[in-house]
Amino acid sequence: MEVEQVGVVGSGLMGAGIAQVAAANGFNVTLVDVDEARVRQAVEGMRRRLSRDVERERMSAEQADATLSRIATAGDAESLESMAGADVVIEAVVEDLGVKSAVFRRLGEVSKPDALLASNTSSLPLSDLAAASHRPERVVGLHFFNPPWALKLVEIVTTASTTPETLDDARAFCERLDRVLVQVKDTPGFIANRLLVPFIFDAIQLLDNGVATAEDIDMACKVGLNHTMGPLATADLIGLDTLQAIAESMFEEYGEARFKGPTLLRRLVSLGHLGRKTGRGFFRYGE
Ligand SMILES: NC(=O)c1ccc[n+]([C@@H]2O[C@H](COP(=O)([O-])OP(=O)(O)OC[C@H]3O[C@@H](n4cnc5c(N)ncnc54)[C@H](O)[C@@H]3O)[C@@H](O)[C@H]2O)c1
Repeated sequence: MEVEQVGVVGSGLMGAGIAQVAAANGFNVTLVDVDEARVRQAVEGMRRRLSRDVERERMSAEQADATLSRIATAGDAESLESMAGADVVIEAVVEDLGVKSAVFRRLGEVSKPDALLASNTSSLPLSDLAAASHRPERVVGLHFFNPPWALKLVEIVTTASTTPETLDDARAFCERLDRVLVQVKDTPGFIANRLLVPFIFDAIQLLDNGVATAEDIDMACKVGLNHTMGPLATADLIGLDTLQAIAESMFEEYGEARFKGPTLLRRLVSLGHLGRKTGRGFFRYGE
């Protein structure tokens, strides 16, 4: 499959980053969202990151300009129509099965018959999204990591309907994005979140039980376990609303208490303390 045009649906934390990676690797990208403000923020964020890369001499000013010039945007309810020309479409909307299924249903209608349709879901059943598209043989999970411009891993997720040709196309596309690939079946949380989520939840329980401060819990993991980031700062980076949605779907699928979102997580989400993106989660930002 020849890939020139990439569509990204959802321009939040992940969609914006995935669009940047695709454009930086030479693809023409159309980035869409139902919320026009999110599209604008995504492009501003890219501009900021690219100029920082130029300042630090990681890329030339020409490369940064060329990357931005490859990104087109649309920000309204009709924006999925603009996926009609895409060879690969990557869905990165909110972690909600109803919303994602509606996106895949529409993508099945509007995209090219042989387009590769991918979801960035962290935990929802890819098979349900594949079925919603009415062309399950062309659907894979491409689970990028946060932030996509810095973390190179992609978990490639297959369902029982994914054809070998689709898997080959997905691999070839990710290699052109300079990614490191692991392959995994459609299971909740795949590899990384299956391991990470219960670990983060234990850290939240330690905090909620008053065993240690947030700073000390993260310090123990950074200095004692040699982790780059502590589990509570990682939760803030993921977004506590996204983490809660991941927990709900993993708990529903596995039925095990270790995947149930802790009370403190739910309370913070109710209060709108969603982590870095709102300036406050387990830690405070930008003060
Ligand atoms: N945050 C992370 O660390 C992380 C890491 C890997 C994967 N993911 C997954 O990526 C996906 C997106 O997560 P995020 O952190 O970027 O969330 P986010 O909340 O930052 O962004 C989600 C975006 O989806 C948009 N959206 C909602 N409904 C839409 C629709 N019908 N059409 C188009 N856009 C729509 C919202 O307006 C919002 O801009 C989720 O499936 C999440 O599980 C997240």
